[in-house]
Amino acid sequence: MDQAEKKAAAAQAALEFVTHGIVGVGTGSTVNCFIDALAQVKDRVEGAVSSSDASTERLNALGVPLLDLNDAQPLDVYVDGADEANEHLQLIKGGGGALTREKIVAAASARFVCIVDDSKLVDVLGEFPLPVEVIPMARALVANRLVGMGGQPVWRKDFVTDNGNHILDVHNLRIVDPPTMESQINDITGVVSVGIFAQRPADVLLIAGTDGVRKILR
Ligand code: A5P
Repeated sequence: MDQAEKKAAAAQAALEFVTHGIVGVGTGSTVNCFIDALAQVKDRVEGAVSSSDASTERLNALGVPLLDLNDAQPLDVYVDGADEANEHLQLIKGGGGALTREKIVAAASARFVCIVDDSKLVDVLGEFPLPVEVIPMARALVANRLVGMGGQPVWRKDFVTDNGNHILDVHNLRIVDPPTMESQINDITGVVSVGIFAQRPADVLLIAGTDGVRKILR
């Protein structure tokens, strides 16, 4: 099974959790597989709340009604991928730059189902450069603070988030206490959000490997 097949298998397994109501939809290549799979159960879904312009476009093409989060709370389930996941269902997200909207939709959802292939599972988060969304004028200020925390922030040039902000990708962090580091980085003035999802981790992690899809529940 190659990586693309694993992503498709994890996406297919997530359909079990989409039983009714409104579904929150994340962003990325694994979620694209999920959106494609959603066609099979479209009839039992009232509509979707999307976390990015890219996912909105794909959901539109499928004919799933799109709702504004302000008119759709609480969401029954949120399905999204991750850049890294640990056994505590804590995640790094934001490789696609959609972390802030993803965090908002995750926070508004009763259940967060995370779908990954087995290359994403790690013991300690942080090998994947940690995305931090920042207000553009605060980029250097936030970068200095992140250096003070032991990281090496790199500005993701030529990229602007759906919210009009910039991303710093922070290298060389070994995140042994994800909820604490999430708070510390959130507290830096100028940070919009950080790609650590630990205070609101996933509730279900579906990990696709060669032998099938493993399910971890919180
Ligand atoms: C988007 O901002 C990210 O949080 C994605 O969920 C993450 O990058 C996973 O993407 P892939 O499924 O493409 O690996």
